Amino acid sequence: MRDSTPTRPDAATSIGFGVGLRPVHFPVVLERAAQRALRVDWFEIISENFMIPGGRPLRILDEIRSLVPVVLHGVSMNLGSSDPLDEQYLDGLARLAERVDPPWLSDHLCWTGVDSHNLHDLLPLPYTEDAIRHVVERIGRVQDRLRRRIAIENVSSYLSYTSDEMTEWEFLSAIAERADCGILLDVNNIFVSAHNHGFDAARYVDAIPSERVFQIHLAGHSVQGSMLIDTHDHPVRAEVWALYERAIARIGRTATLVEWDDQIPEYDVLEAEADLARKKCDDSHSDRAQRRSSIGADA
Ligand SMILES: [Fe+2]
Repeated sequence: MRDSTPTRPDAATSIGFGVGLRPVHFPVVLERAAQRALRVDWFEIISENFMIPGGRPLRILDEIRSLVPVVLHGVSMNLGSSDPLDEQYLDGLARLAERVDPPWLSDHLCWTGVDSHNLHDLLPLPYTEDAIRHVVERIGRVQDRLRRRIAIENVSSYLSYTSDEMTEWEFLSAIAERADCGILLDVNNIFVSAHNHGFDAARYVDAIPSERVFQIHLAGHSVQGSMLIDTHDHPVRAEVWALYERAIARIGRTATLVEWDDQIPEYDVLEAEADLARKKCDDSHSDRAQRRSSIGADA
């Protein structure tokens, strides 16, 4: 796999702008799809919601997949845990991936449980060489099992370890390089964690290897006292849009997805957020083209 695959799939730059597909929006999405009136280019689904064989969700998924690309985004791979990988889960995920044929699938750089206890949280890992080796080996096994490359997402975090040996961005980048996998860069999570831990969000974005970024996530967060919490229940905040602009100026046009998981608004609100991401990307692209042509005129 390492020798034969290009680093960044074509879809990472060409797939466009999407939103997370949530059951509450199934009726309106199907209606818009039937009228060929979808404004988004693709959808992301939570893999686990579609891993039960048969039933309405899979029928709807098939219908939507026949019209636009669908990316699988999971929360149960438990990549960082010391528990063995869940082979039954991977079998189900492989079946779903065969059905959907996504451009890539993703999960989080985290651990979600140990000793078979699921903590229902996406917990950060200690940023150590030992943890890198552990996660790289597991990603290799997952990619071999699925016969696809995955993208790993940086999580928002509210704790850190005294054993940390490096920054979060060094940890994420090292794992992506050594495992030959992609990065799902969640700029809201970077912003939230930067605030909570006191690091520089811009430095994080500037250090990520561009050719590894398959996708970007955008979402809203909440302020709770002195902490920011990644609640996915607000529009994307202005500071996060600014960080997104910095990311795409550096990485270039990149598949972008708006997540909204609580207090979910009307579907049109999500499409408007995706439209805004598209506009910021277009503006960034035309700014750069303008700068190039003025440099050419000066030369
Ligand atoms: Fe995310």
